[in-house]
Amino acid sequence: ELVEPRRTDLAGRRIVITAGGTREPLDPVRFLGNRSSGKQGVALAEAARSRGAEVTLIGANLEVAHPERCDVVAVSTTLELRDAVRAAAATADVVIMAAAVADYRPAEVRDSKITKEEQGDELTLRLVKNPDILAELASERPAGQTIIGFAAETEPDDALLVERGRAKLARKGADFLVVNRVGWHEGFATDENSIVVLAEGGHVVTEGNGDKLSVANRILDVIV
Ligand code: CTP
Ligand code: CA
Repeated sequence: ELVEPRRTDLAGRRIVITAGGTREPLDPVRFLGNRSSGKQGVALAEAARSRGAEVTLIGANLEVAHPERCDVVAVSTTLELRDAVRAAAATADVVIMAAAVADYRPAEVRDSKITKEEQGDELTLRLVKNPDILAELASERPAGQTIIGFAAETEPDDALLVERGRAKLARKGADFLVVNRVGWHEGFATDENSIVVLAEGGHVVTEGNGDKLSVANRILDVIV
């Protein structure tokens, strides 16, 4: 085959992708985090770049190599990710929120190490909710911008998993939601992914599984 249909179908499009997992510091040496490696988001950036898009990747604590020929902005906390993605999204055609964002952060960040001497046998952490970046982006979006969210769900039942995704999509106000199952051995930090993509209104537009690059191209097919 001489024809490569995917080669330039995103030419001239500006795409912003968040990847990885945010970390919330407790003190100078500790953080609260999650197991997202950034593999799926980086695969999306690579796939979008190879289809001709201009890609900005907002990487939160990426555990994989940066993609080539993409602008990469490194962030760590949720509030840093929020500033970076909002700035980049202002001129984007598409925003994909693949990052696993910490839902809560410590109410106070200590300047010195928390010690056992001070805490004794128990330690209680007080956390406050982080802003919902995806919902903010969706409510403030410029005309014509397409916004895609991800949903990480541990629900074992397929039908209930999609139901949860539908409710989440409605809450967020995104155009599409990529629902994927996560667990001790699934989703995070693996090379394969299994997804169901829901469109506005909650109907399934595509589903399937494969390596993270094939899954990325599936998602981009929906966006195109
Ligand atoms: N997200 C976000 N800001 C947050 C939390 C999540 O932008 N503070 C984004 C994620 O990047 C993802 C989508 O929202 O694209 C769904 O994340 P998920 O954790 O599945 O949903 P939550 O709304 O946080 O609900 P919960 O974790 O309670 O299921
Ligand atoms: Ca969450």
